[in-house]
Amino acid sequence: MNSTPWWKEAVIYQIYPRSFYDSNGDGEGDLPGITSHLEYVQALGVDAIWLSPFYTSPNKDGGYDVADPRDVDPRFGDLEDAKALIKRAHELNLRVLADIVPNHFSDQHEWFKAALKAGRGSPERNRFHFYDANPDGTPPNNWISLFGGPSWTQVEDGQFYLHLFDSSQPDLNWENSDVNTDFETTLRFWLDLGVDGFRIDVAHGLVKEDIGKNHPDPTGLSNALRLDIEMETEARNALLESVPYFDRQGVHEIYRRWRKIFDSYGDRDVMAVAEAWVHPPVNATRYVRADELHQVFNFDLLTAPFDGNFLFDVITRSIELNATVNALPTWALSNHDSPRVATRIGALESHALALFVFALPGSAYIFAGQELGLPDGELSDSDRQDPSFFRSHGAIKGRDGARVPLPWHGEITPFGFTTGRPWLPINQSWSAMTVEKEDSDADSVLNLYRNALALRAHHLAGSGHIEWLESHSLGAKHGELLGFKRGAVSVFMNLSHEDFVLGYEGQIIISSRGSSADFAQSRVVPARSTIWILN
Ligand code: GLC
Ligand code: CA
Repeated sequence: MNSTPWWKEAVIYQIYPRSFYDSNGDGEGDLPGITSHLEYVQALGVDAIWLSPFYTSPNKDGGYDVADPRDVDPRFGDLEDAKALIKRAHELNLRVLADIVPNHFSDQHEWFKAALKAGRGSPERNRFHFYDANPDGTPPNNWISLFGGPSWTQVEDGQFYLHLFDSSQPDLNWENSDVNTDFETTLRFWLDLGVDGFRIDVAHGLVKEDIGKNHPDPTGLSNALRLDIEMETEARNALLESVPYFDRQGVHEIYRRWRKIFDSYGDRDVMAVAEAWVHPPVNATRYVRADELHQVFNFDLLTAPFDGNFLFDVITRSIELNATVNALPTWALSNHDSPRVATRIGALESHALALFVFALPGSAYIFAGQELGLPDGELSDSDRQDPSFFRSHGAIKGRDGARVPLPWHGEITPFGFTTGRPWLPINQSWSAMTVEKEDSDADSVLNLYRNALALRAHHLAGSGHIEWLESHSLGAKHGELLGFKRGAVSVFMNLSHEDFVLGYEGQIIISSRGSSADFAQSRVVPARSTIWILN
């Protein structure tokens, strides 16, 4: 028996279903659209796909507002389409991770409708967090929603319900056993349908403490939780140490129960990865203790500057912290919630960083479109759909830029994504970045990713620890060149703006600057690039 489970050092490709491929011309991607393009995904060389939610939903928050977690929203197809997708993926040797959203339901879920009807003090209301107003009529506490505005909304009879996100996303009360039972049913439902695991949305949020108390600095806390707001590190950290609705000890009980369910599927090697934004970083390791989940996202690289010292620190820390619980790290440069990496740090830099992290131990996550080098789409405010844009009255632009659909082929927008009008406009300037164009260009980002993943599988998978190479000994200034050796491969990232002549033996097998980079002759690592050398 193979003792290394598939997910230990997997490459996982995140698909945002609405933005991948539209099979029926309504302007929105759908499940049959994904199924028909899985060969493209397989050819990238990934091990698994993670599908952002495709469940029944009024789609106020891109499907993260789930009205029926055990059915498919008609905009994406139906359950038969989900089965067909899973079947095709498995034929192509791709595992499938589904997204599970346990912190909240949509206000269109049956339970919430029943709770509104049943009234105060009812068992139906107890599945959510319903509280009476304060004597002066204000909400039960002063918490602020992560999407802006108060995190409480009042219903007709005067009670308030808690929502950490949009008012259409009432938080579930995990102290109510119905909630637990229902999620266990949902997990089994999808596992029985064939999925190989889950990405757990807001995994750190399920348990709340001190709902009866005001937070001493709700605005500070809400700013500290927002990545787009700058704040002095110490002040931010102090606020994040103890968030009454995040990372409470109680969440771990839930994952211990879930783990037993996953393990009951035996050699199917079911895995789960937690979305857990927690502080301090060591807390993340609790989610991947042996009897809990398998992976936890490391979000450091979603916000990290292209800076050698910074990257060295976060990468080292992540490897070391995970090792304390015998887990491997995860690496993600982009996802559906943050600006695309090419926009955030620059095109060359993003390719260099991708090639660098593909060589690291652990699992790498790729957000669909990243392999084309896509930047964020340029949108006007009238295009925007993210609830955070509306709840903040436009102060937060929101996450739509990263969610613009993929350009597939042709010269004119929407580049084959749909025969209709895409739900978000695709910039005409993306004409050079279609799958079709990049497929036929040996030096495209797409081919860089394909080659890198093939080389990773061949030379690096399972080859254990990295050994950092001291930049001084390579003749570089601290932080300008990062190098490490792992198994048979040495990896160098030049973070400076100058080409770097490297005194190092071996054969270059890939460069983030494409095949034209002639290391063999000149031993030059071009500015803002990464190379792999076979020792
Ligand atoms: C997670 C999702 C995000 C969603 C939020 C609320 O952070 O990734 O897209 O808006 O949870 O469900
Ligand atoms: Ca469609």
